Amino acid sequence: MPDDLLDRIRLNGAVPHHVAIIMDGNGRWARERHLPRPLGHRAGMKAVRDVVEGAIAAGMEVLTLFAFSEENWQRPTSEVSALMELLEEYIAREAAELREQGVAVHVLGDRTRLVPGAGEAVERVERETRDGRALSLNLCISYSSRAELARAARLLAEDVLRGAKRLEDVDEDAVREKLYTAPWRDPDLLIRTSGEQRLSNFLLWQLAYTELYITPVLWPDVTRQVLFEAILDYQQRERRFGNVTA
Ligand code: IPE
Ligand code: IPE
Ligand code: MG
Repeated sequence: MPDDLLDRIRLNGAVPHHVAIIMDGNGRWARERHLPRPLGHRAGMKAVRDVVEGAIAAGMEVLTLFAFSEENWQRPTSEVSALMELLEEYIAREAAELREQGVAVHVLGDRTRLVPGAGEAVERVERETRDGRALSLNLCISYSSRAELARAARLLAEDVLRGAKRLEDVDEDAVREKLYTAPWRDPDLLIRTSGEQRLSNFLLWQLAYTELYITPVLWPDVTRQVLFEAILDYQQRERRFGNVTA
């Protein structure tokens, strides 16, 4: 079944270059099964693996996943610790495989807040997968879009203050260059799982003209098939960017 979808995607032509995903619904998935929330997060790890493989199979260039927001630090300590442990475990288990698949991992967000073990794991996986050319996998961890924009403003102000930039050169491109996402094009498609219809402080700048796709599927139940269905839907859209079509 996923292979049929992949054939249809290929027939349609243009595959989105960059897909971003708000991976939501782990807690509800666990609650439905009367399991503790961390087991929902653990089940979500499997979904990450399948979607990464699907992204490579589809021929995408960039996959940006929202894994943990700055606001998520407010959750109970037990859940936050479980998530940090899972991050370390994910990296320990997947780093070699990701490298083999040609995936380059990048972690976007305020990594100074990560527990030391997780911080080291993040640096290790970035280093070990640095040469990957098949897919850039951006993991947004301890990330919030407003914090990213405030940081960009601060960095620009610093440049102006030390004379490295003129005030009149602070334009859209200058802001873009200071975002964590500077190396990549804006997402073509945003997928949010679990049916929530909000951005939750994710990529507010970068999503200006991104196509949105919301699915009720809870993240741990997501497979590459959901990604392929979203891509097929995307391929039917007409993107106008404020202009009129010829
Ligand atoms: C998404 O699942 C994962 C994180 C935010 C870390 P949730 O934990 O938000 O799951 P729900 O929304 O409570 O179902
Ligand atoms: C957004 O999900 C953050 C991640 C998926 C990492 P949340 O579950 O934290 O968002 P809200 O609270 O429903 O807006
Ligand atoms: Mg949620």
